[in-house]
Amino acid sequence: MNADAKFTRTLVTSALPYANGHIHLGHIAGAYLPADIYVRYLRLKGKPVLYIGGSDEHGVPVTLTALKEGSSPKDVVDRYHEANAEAFADLGISYDLYGRTIWDLHADTTQRFFRALDAGGHIERQEMVLWYSEQSDMYLPDRYVKGTCPRCGYEDANGDECENCGAQYAAEELIEPRANIPGDTSRPILKPSAHWFLKLRDFKDDLKAWLDSHPDWRANVRGIAYGWVDDLRDRCITRDTDWGIPVPVDDPEAQNKRIYVWFDAPIGYVTNTRQWGVEAKDDAAAWETWWKDPSTRLVHFIGKDNIPFHAVIFPAMLMGQGDFIVADNVVGNEYLNILNRMTGKAEKGSKSKGNMISVRDFLTRFSRDALRYYLCAIMPESRDAAFSWDEFLNRYNGELCDVVGNFVHRSLTMTVKNFDGVVPEPGPFDAEDQALLDSLPEQLDGIAQAFDQFRFRLAVERFIEMGRRANQYFDTKQPWVTRKTDRERTATTLYVCCQVVRVLCAAMAPFVPDGAAKLAETLGIEVFVGGPDGGPDSWDAAKTPLPAGTPLQPPVVLFPKLDKDYVAEIAERHARGEAL
Ligand code: 2FM
Ligand code: ZN
Repeated sequence: MNADAKFTRTLVTSALPYANGHIHLGHIAGAYLPADIYVRYLRLKGKPVLYIGGSDEHGVPVTLTALKEGSSPKDVVDRYHEANAEAFADLGISYDLYGRTIWDLHADTTQRFFRALDAGGHIERQEMVLWYSEQSDMYLPDRYVKGTCPRCGYEDANGDECENCGAQYAAEELIEPRANIPGDTSRPILKPSAHWFLKLRDFKDDLKAWLDSHPDWRANVRGIAYGWVDDLRDRCITRDTDWGIPVPVDDPEAQNKRIYVWFDAPIGYVTNTRQWGVEAKDDAAAWETWWKDPSTRLVHFIGKDNIPFHAVIFPAMLMGQGDFIVADNVVGNEYLNILNRMTGKAEKGSKSKGNMISVRDFLTRFSRDALRYYLCAIMPESRDAAFSWDEFLNRYNGELCDVVGNFVHRSLTMTVKNFDGVVPEPGPFDAEDQALLDSLPEQLDGIAQAFDQFRFRLAVERFIEMGRRANQYFDTKQPWVTRKTDRERTATTLYVCCQVVRVLCAAMAPFVPDGAAKLAETLGIEVFVGGPDGGPDSWDAAKTPLPAGTPLQPPVVLFPKLDKDYVAEIAERHARGEAL
C-alpha cells in the first residue's frame, strides 16, 4: 500500500553511536546522512516527521575505553556525547532531539520494557558459565575476554562472538582465552553466574509475518533478518558489570548485574522521544502518539552491523510490549571503507590503522555541503563504498560546482545584469523552452521517488542530470549571444532558466542545505520547513513557476570550488596518519 495512504506521520531514528569515540565519515555515510536527507525531504514536503537520535552510553565499549585511558565511564561519555552532538550539528544532521542513555528517564523506560516482557513470560533466568579473572576479580563480559574463534581460528575473537566470521558461540568454546584488561596476565577460569534471557523464539511467528509483509526492504536487511528468524535463540540481556541500568527483578543475584547495552540502546529511541515531548511540547504523553498510534510510520536508519538488532531483536521487544508499533522499514547501509592512496586498495576504517576521518577534523578543512554531497553520491547502499580524496575532489568540483553551481550562477548573473534584477517577462515559448519547462515537475518527482525508495545515490544522479539538461539548454540557446540581437528571445531563455533554478533549489535542499538556503535567499523564496506538526508543501510548490517580475538578489557562489593542491596536501596528511 502507498505509505501516504496508511500513515499520517513518520518517526525516523538513526542508530545511537557509542559515546566512546569521535563520529567519523563511515558512521555518517551509514546511518546519519541518509536519515537526515530523508527527514529534510519529508519536512520540505510538509509531512509531519520527528527525527530522534542520541548517544549510546552503556556497555563494554565505554567501560573498556575508560579502563584503557584511566578515567571513569562517566567522564568518557560526557566528553564524547558533547563532541558528537557538536559534530552532528556542524554537519547539519537535523535531529529534533539528541538524547542520552545515562538519563534517569532512560532507566525508567528500559525498566518498563523489561518488566512488561517479564510479565508476559518472555524473560527467563538461566544459569550459565562465564569467563572470570581471579586477578581482576571480575567476570569478563563481551570484549573483556579475547581468544581464538572456535569456528575460523581468528585470534582476536571476543568472548561469545567473532568479528571475523560472525560466529556466535558459548563462552566455554572460546580457545585460549585471555583477559583484555591492561596488566591482567592471569588465565581466565570458567565460573557459574545467573543471567536473564529474552525468549526470542516466543516472537518467531510474529516476526516472520512482519518480515513477510515488507518484501520491498533492501536485500541485505531481509537476508540477515530471515537468517536470524529461522534460527532464533534465547538472548542474554544482562551482564556482570556495574555500568548500566539495574535489572528490575527481586533476586539477590541481580544486584551486581546490569541490563545489557544492546537491550537498552534501541529503547533510547523511545526515551528520547519522551524527552522531546517534554521539551518541545511540554507534554509528558506526547511520545505515545509516535510509538503507539498505528498511523505512525517508524523508519530506522542503521549500518549493516546493527541489522539483527533493528530487524529482529528490538521489534520482538516492541511486540512484547503489546501496544507499540514496529518499523515499517529498516534502512541498513553497507560500509564505507577508505581508499589507501599508496596501495590503491580500499581498507576498513580502523582506530589502530589511524585511517579513520572524523567529522570534526574534516569540517575544519571543507564545507559541510561538500562532504554531504560526496558521501551521498557514493553512499554504500547496496555494496561497500570507499572514500577517496581524488574522487571527493572530482565529484564535488565536477558535478556539484561545474554542473549545478555553474548553471545557477550563469543564469542568475545574466538575468540580474540584463533584466534589472528581476525574472524577465518571457515571449512565446518554442519547442525547446516548452520541453524543458514541461519536464521540470517530472524531474522533481523522479528525485522524490528516489527519496521515497531510500535510493539516495539515484536521487543525486537525477539531480545532477537536471543540471546537465539545463546546461545543454543554456548552451543551445546562447543567451550571451542573443542578448545583443534579440531581447525577447533572451528574456524567454532566462525566464526558463530561472524556473529550472527554482526547482533545483528545492531539489538540492535535502542534500546540500547551505547552498539551498543561499539560493532561496537570492530567489526571494520563503522555504517553509515543516517538522513534527507538518507544514505547507514547499517541495511541490517549486513546481509553480516564479512569476515574471520577481526580484532577484545579486547571485553568490553556492559551491566554491576546491583547490586541487590543497586537497592533495590534506590527503597526504591523512596518509601519514596526521590530524587533517
Ligand atoms: O553500533 C553502535 O554504535 C551501537 N551503539 C548502535 C546502537 S543503535 C540503537 F540500538 F541504539
Ligand atoms: Zn571466527
